[in-house]
Amino acid sequence: MPGTGGTPPGSAPAKAHEHAELRDWPGYFRAVAGKPARETLLKALDLFDRDGPSDVPRFAIDLGCGSGRDTFELLRRGWRVLAVDASELGLSLLKKELPAEYADRLETLLSTYEDFMPREAVLLNASYALPFCEPSRFDEVWARIVGAIPTGGRFAGQFFGERDDWAVLGDRVHHTRPQVERLLAEFTIDRLQEVENREAGATGVVKNWHVFHVVAKKRGKASR
Ligand SMILES: C[S@@+](CC[C@H](N)C(=O)[O-])C[C@H]1O[C@@H](n2cnc3c(N)ncnc32)[C@H](O)[C@@H]1O
Repeated sequence: MPGTGGTPPGSAPAKAHEHAELRDWPGYFRAVAGKPARETLLKALDLFDRDGPSDVPRFAIDLGCGSGRDTFELLRRGWRVLAVDASELGLSLLKKELPAEYADRLETLLSTYEDFMPREAVLLNASYALPFCEPSRFDEVWARIVGAIPTGGRFAGQFFGERDDWAVLGDRVHHTRPQVERLLAEFTIDRLQEVENREAGATGVVKNWHVFHVVAKKRGKASR
């Protein structure tokens, strides 16, 4: 069975999404070990580079950082990072793999999304993270995220759509496209890519994905 930690001899290991379905984060971290940074983060970083030099410090919050695939990319590209996750194991894997030369630009915080009070960050990255927020707390969590991003700063990450198979589970957050657009009302959209596809798990069971990939820039007087 996916997510139970063991793989019976001769059977394929469970895929990352099969662990995520069960919130089996140790299994998820094993399944994504060594994976590169997410496309939404890479797009946001390229856009900051294209914006050109700025006096604003390159400080990012990587919310729901897991074992750190995006955090490492941010550090590699010279950013200071606050990496936040509710999984002690995720943060300890991240710290174990951390090259010593990055250590002084990384801060980690063990926190749930629901308890986290973000400070100002020019990039708030949340890759495949916010859908796992407690649904009744999502609006306040999102309001704090929007409040932490200054004019000209960016949000990068994913929201899950209402046609995703996990929408019936009830313990995670799914949105319609108009709802996603409303969440981004204070932003100029750099990328809003809606993807619906199917992925077979290790046992052949197919999952229907409905995901919004988002990169967006906070609007305001100083925004270009
Ligand atoms: C699907 S993983 C994404 C990890 C990483 N950002 C990535 O792109 O692979 C979701 C992460 O959210 C964390 N998480 C789930 N619910 C959370 C919550 N309520 N508060 C904080 N972290 C949470 C898990 O520990 C896990 O690391």
